[in-house]
Amino acid sequence: MLANPQEFYINGLNYTIRSAIDKDAKQLSEVRLQIDGETENMDRERGEAFIDPAGFEQIIKTDTEKPRNLFLVAAVQDRIVGFSRCEGVYLKRFSHKVEFGVCVLKEFWGYGIGKNLLKESIAWADANGIKKMTLNVLETNDKAVELYKKLGFEVEGLLKNDKILSDGNYYNTIVMGRCNE
Ligand SMILES: CC(C)(COP(=O)(O)OP(=O)(O)OC[C@H]1O[C@@H](n2cnc3c(N)ncnc32)[C@H](O)[C@@H]1OP(=O)(O)O)[C@@H](O)C(=O)NCCC(=O)NCCS
Repeated sequence: MLANPQEFYINGLNYTIRSAIDKDAKQLSEVRLQIDGETENMDRERGEAFIDPAGFEQIIKTDTEKPRNLFLVAAVQDRIVGFSRCEGVYLKRFSHKVEFGVCVLKEFWGYGIGKNLLKESIAWADANGIKKMTLNVLETNDKAVELYKKLGFEVEGLLKNDKILSDGNYYNTIVMGRCNE
């Protein structure tokens, strides 16, 4: 689906949050690659499961057409600096919920971009009768966990030793959910 664009001015930075469009595909491919290399908080190391511009064009098309998908980008003028996706599972037994994911370029952390991408996604979900949002987050990603809790997500479970990071240690993943009663 598509969401209406919103303008923000936070800590001296102007940015827009809007639905992804076809011509964002090239930048999205590059930004995803960069963000994957900036922390170990995402599932992939830099370059793994690479999505090229044509792949993003397809995702944008699907997310625009499907009723329980939403692809938002945060743009500073014409530069994409972060994005989020809500993805529905198109089985009747999962027809009430979507999975959420978000990432922001490190250079643009602390401007409320992650928070506003999530807020806009929650507003969209609530307005469209979506009863549940779910997500997975690395247990050590304190900032993301705090953000999710602040916006109404609860911890639902723990996946023990879910990931192995570059230090050779195993890390737990927290499963979180936000129910719209
Ligand atoms: C997690 C992420 C999306 C947050 O986005 P952001 O734009 O940097 O965060 P925001 O500026 O919107 O801040 C959101 C909240 O994070 C929390 N936060 C920010 N800095 C923090 C810090 N140093 N310690 C703890 N919490 C912090 C606060 O709750 C803040 O809300 P507030 O502004 O009301 O105080 C971003 O850091 C990111 O993309 N990280 C790498 C990828 C990632 O971890 N994605 C999530 C995977 S589940």
